[in-house]
Amino acid sequence: MGFFSSSTQTIPDSGEIPNHVAVIMDGNGRWARKRFLPRVAGHKRGVEIVRTLVKTCAKQNVKFLTLFAFSSENWRRPDDEVSFLMGLFMDALKREVAKLHENNIRLILIGDRSRFNVALVEQIEASEKLTASNTGLTLTIAANYGGRWDILQAANKMMLQDSNKKGQFTEEDLMPHLAMHYAPEPDLFIRTGGEKRVSNFLLWQLAYTEFYFTDTLWPDFDDKAFQQAIVSFQQRERRFGRTSEQLVTPA
Ligand code: IPE
Ligand code: IPE
Ligand code: MG
Repeated sequence: MGFFSSSTQTIPDSGEIPNHVAVIMDGNGRWARKRFLPRVAGHKRGVEIVRTLVKTCAKQNVKFLTLFAFSSENWRRPDDEVSFLMGLFMDALKREVAKLHENNIRLILIGDRSRFNVALVEQIEASEKLTASNTGLTLTIAANYGGRWDILQAANKMMLQDSNKKGQFTEEDLMPHLAMHYAPEPDLFIRTGGEKRVSNFLLWQLAYTEFYFTDTLWPDFDDKAFQQAIVSFQQRERRFGRTSEQLVTPA
């Protein structure tokens, strides 16, 4: 149980700091446009914010930080923006992985890697391998990730593994095959950039997550903005289907 159990079944400890924070980093393009800069300048600046947030989360003892970097739908963007984003991802991995390792951070990539070029896949594998046994923050980057893709790939693996169980599969059968099987479900979901949608992020895992939306554009999402999200989270009452009274005196 523990980490692997669904929060819809067991209530996670309501610590001060969320154990798992998942973020849709949105608004890079608009940040750049406001400054009469090309969209890619916003993406570049966005990487700097990732660096600060990772540092803060490690310091505040957040155990899992999951960042949506590129959705399965983002391939629909102009070719030059897509290649810029791939290049930026590659450069950031190369530049930052040693530092992550020094800080005991484990890096994991979730998403369909089959569309990435060989050099990028190799860099991802090397980075994951180097940091695999680190015990501090787990930083998950969702790249070419889609929530529907995740549920479907998990369902396919589950059915292949036990083909006799036709029609009798349970949530527990599916969960180990999901991309984030190593992590508890997110406690706090943050989306910057003003949109109020999930955009095919962690569909299964967000079932009981607390949502926080802010108009702040990702490149402006500094430490102060993150602390506001934490404070908002700390004011929530997480009931997981129960009543307020049951939380005071658990049945
Ligand atoms: C988020 O910023 C980054 C990615 C999706 C890669 P956007 O690029 O979506 O920025 P806006 O939403 O156009 O401002
Ligand atoms: C969601 O942002 C994906 C990432 C931040 C990687 P988008 O900007 O692509 O989302 P939509 O298209 O506005 O829903
Ligand atoms: Mg956007």
